[in-house]
This record gives sequence, C-alpha cells and structure tokens, in this order.
Amino acid sequence: MNHQQSGLFIVIEGIDGTGKSTQAKMLAEALREAGNDVVLDFEPTNGPYGKLLRDSAVTGRMTPDEELDLFHKDRRQHVDELILPSLTEGKIVILDRYYFSTMAYQGQRGFDRAELRATNEAFAPVPDILFILDLPVDKALERIGVRGDTANEFEQSDALQFCRDTFLSVSDESYAHVIDSSPGISEIHSNMLSIATQKLNS
Ligand code: TYD
Repeated sequence: MNHQQSGLFIVIEGIDGTGKSTQAKMLAEALREAGNDVVLDFEPTNGPYGKLLRDSAVTGRMTPDEELDLFHKDRRQHVDELILPSLTEGKIVILDRYYFSTMAYQGQRGFDRAELRATNEAFAPVPDILFILDLPVDKALERIGVRGDTANEFEQSDALQFCRDTFLSVSDESYAHVIDSSPGISEIHSNMLSIATQKLNS
C-alpha cells in the first residue's frame, strides 16, 4: 500500500558487505543536520519477535515457516507502532532492511517472491525511496572477509547472488534507486543524500 502520511519513508537494502548500515547512519545524520526530524531503525527490530529471530540465527533451530511468520509479525508491529506513527508526525523514517529482504532471504529459502511481496504490500507501506546498494557478490564477500573457496562459502555465494538478483528485480519501480557501492563511502553518501534532498524538495 502507499502511505498517505506527510513524512518521507526511505528504505535501504542490499546484500551483506554493501555498507547499508554505515550509509543509513550517515544519511540520517546529514538529514538531521539539515533540520529534519529523522527516525533511524532496522529490521529485524529489537522488539520481541526480532529478538527471537536474532536468537534463532545463533541457534538455527527454526523452520522456514516459523521464521517467515516471525519476520511478518515483527514487521506488522514495526509498521503499526513506529513506521506509520512517525510518518504521520511528518518525520523522515530511514530503515536498514525491510520486506525486500524477506523477498530475498526467505525467497532464497524456497518461498515465492511474488507472493511474499503481495503479502507484505498488503500491510506494509511502500517506501518513497528505496536505495538498493549494489555490489557484485565476489566483491561483497571479499569485503566481509570470505574468500569463497570452501563448499560452505560457495553456497553462501550462490545464496547472495539470489538475494542480489531479487533486490535488482524491483529496480524498475519509480521509487527505486540502484546505488553502485564500489566507490568510496563519501561518494556513495553524497549520491544518496542528493536523491533524498531532491525528493524532500519536490
Ligand atoms: P541484519 O541485522 O541486517 O544483519 P547484517 O548486519 O548481517 O545485515 O539482518 C540479519 C539477517 O536477517 C540478515 O542475514 C538478513 C536477514 N533478514 C531476513 O532473512 N528476512 C528479513 O525480512 C529481514 C528484514 C532480514
């Protein structure tokens, strides 16, 4: 759904190693310095469902269905308690990961991506700006210190390729901006800030 609130909703997605969290912080700081009220947050959240998901990442005991259910519960709560109220108050909301990550990561675990998207868009507002931080998988793995020469690392590389392709599959949307993550941190930041500023002034 499209949100009708006066605030601006910015989402940052990308595979591990593309620098999402760094860019999210820098963007939030720059927009605050420009006098905006900014809420910076992430998914999975630090709420009860998000916490279960993080614990499961360590213990690995959850089935794909249980995991998906928790991601959706976590997101519903996030939308109702933080995202929509903040947008109603006219704030800028910046999220590090959102339902495009569900399409990518749970899609990779066997769920249908189009269905995941429809389920989420029925309750979760579509962002005004989606930044897709993009990097070839081998470069992203290099950045997170994986050399890609063991069986497990091959698997990891395939999984990330699927996720990268999933993020890029929504790049035709009018709100989507693919950001090349290979240049330096400050160049990427200026690029993102100028897109956000343009949208704020439009
Ligand atoms: P995150 O805390 O962003 O970890 P990282 O800093 O390693 O990117 O996300 C934790 C993991 O949760 C990450 O591997 C992606 C995954 N994830 C999903 O599988 N589905 C989702 O809907 C979301 C939001 C995240």
